[in-house]
Amino acid sequence: MNLETLILAAGKGTRMKSKLPKVLHKVCGKPMLQYVIEATKKAGSEREVVVIGSGAELVERTFSGVEFVLQAEQLGTGHAVLSAKDKFANTKGTVLILCGDTPLLTSELLKNFTATHEKSNCAATILTAEMPDATGYGRVIRAENGAFKKIVEDKDASEDEKKIREVNAGVYCFDAQKLFGYLERVGNNNAQGEYYLPDVLPILKEAGEEIGAFKAEYCIETIGINTRAQLAAADKALRMRKEQELMEAGVTIIDPNTTFIDGDVKIGQDTIIQPNTYIEGNTVIGEDCSIGPNVRFTDMIVGNKVTVQFSYCHEAEILDGVTLGPYVHIRPGTTIGQNVKIGNFVEIKNSNIGEGTKLPHLQYIGDTDVGSNVNVGCGTVTCNYDGKEKHRTTIGDNAFIGCNTNLVAPVTVEEGAYIAAGSTITKDVPKDNLAVARARQVNIEVWNDKRK
Ligand code: UD1
Ligand code: CA
Repeated sequence: MNLETLILAAGKGTRMKSKLPKVLHKVCGKPMLQYVIEATKKAGSEREVVVIGSGAELVERTFSGVEFVLQAEQLGTGHAVLSAKDKFANTKGTVLILCGDTPLLTSELLKNFTATHEKSNCAATILTAEMPDATGYGRVIRAENGAFKKIVEDKDASEDEKKIREVNAGVYCFDAQKLFGYLERVGNNNAQGEYYLPDVLPILKEAGEEIGAFKAEYCIETIGINTRAQLAAADKALRMRKEQELMEAGVTIIDPNTTFIDGDVKIGQDTIIQPNTYIEGNTVIGEDCSIGPNVRFTDMIVGNKVTVQFSYCHEAEILDGVTLGPYVHIRPGTTIGQNVKIGNFVEIKNSNIGEGTKLPHLQYIGDTDVGSNVNVGCGTVTCNYDGKEKHRTTIGDNAFIGCNTNLVAPVTVEEGAYIAAGSTITKDVPKDNLAVARARQVNIEVWNDKRK
């Protein structure tokens, strides 16, 4: 089946009360429109046309792999579809139409829905759902024999119609030529003065066409986001779905209610996610790790057997066997080598830390290359910024950096070198040397006698 799709995303999203176009609001870490595009592609769509209007430039810049058409004035969903008429002039079969604000739709549901339409003789099939609270949705009005009659929008519905809980999910299969043949007959004589897409359905019916209605099994998949409260509800539902998938694949999530994992995150088998943990963006975590409690990862690459607690790590890489935390901040451009130990109270930025190195307490390491098996003493600071520019520090393998050392960059501490505690190192330290860079201690005898 050669499926083409039209996605409506031109509306401002007035009820969101936002400066951002509605379809760019993120759900579970991704703009809601992204989910709709991905679900349609996965359902077998070969071409997606997205109607944009409000915030058009920004929306166009955010998504790739789709075509755009501009609806300069947003006069309703029917008008939005009409503005894409030319894009479907040569479409022989079905056009799948959906809204950019229904991010919970699954590709399985879309596949079943489009397959059902294809098997029927209907000129149009609409997706419906039984909602526990139908407020805001268009209601499905059926004839006495149960056949589809029309959709009545919430704002146009009578008190009796408002009691109907079967709603229009805003997803339709249309015979493209029949749709565009009749769409111009839709008027705007309604509460909102808009051209409603669902109003083409009774027109098709009167023209003798058959209209199908396919009810979704799980209404959660069809929820539309119009308000911030619905955004929060959709976010929660998508997170639960993501966590369910991960648990089915062998990840332990101690408390799904206090764990926030974005849609694109990947986590390996037997990794344990502890409570109060946020795993965001394109983070990839390996197997047998323990992450949390109280960890935030954003766009991280994490190996196997890594333990992290009470820490924030972003745009960096952590290799196998690392122990990190509590209270560590790993900043962008950092690679933490195998079996490294870091924490407590350590900040590392734009640095490479070699295998087996220990940074156990209170360090700031910036723009630094640290070799393997280095012991970095408590309170070590790389002085990487001279007020104008950043400079690099290099520490060779097996070096020993005494406590409370300042390394004034650019500076190199060669392999096997020792630095005496409390030193401020401004010159390179050659291989295997001991550097002492502090005032000598003076002991003053009988100090107490003199004081008296
Ligand atoms: C719409 C349906 C309603 C259905 C609900 C499902 C209509 C008239 N109503 O209502 O029956 O129950 O979706 O979620 O279709 N859009 C445009 N251009 C416009 C207007 C809207 O592109 O001129 C886009 C919006 O960006 C949005 C989608 O169409 O993605 C739906 O618009 P929205 O205003 O959210 O419609 P609802 O009131 O939710
Ligand atoms: Ca909507």
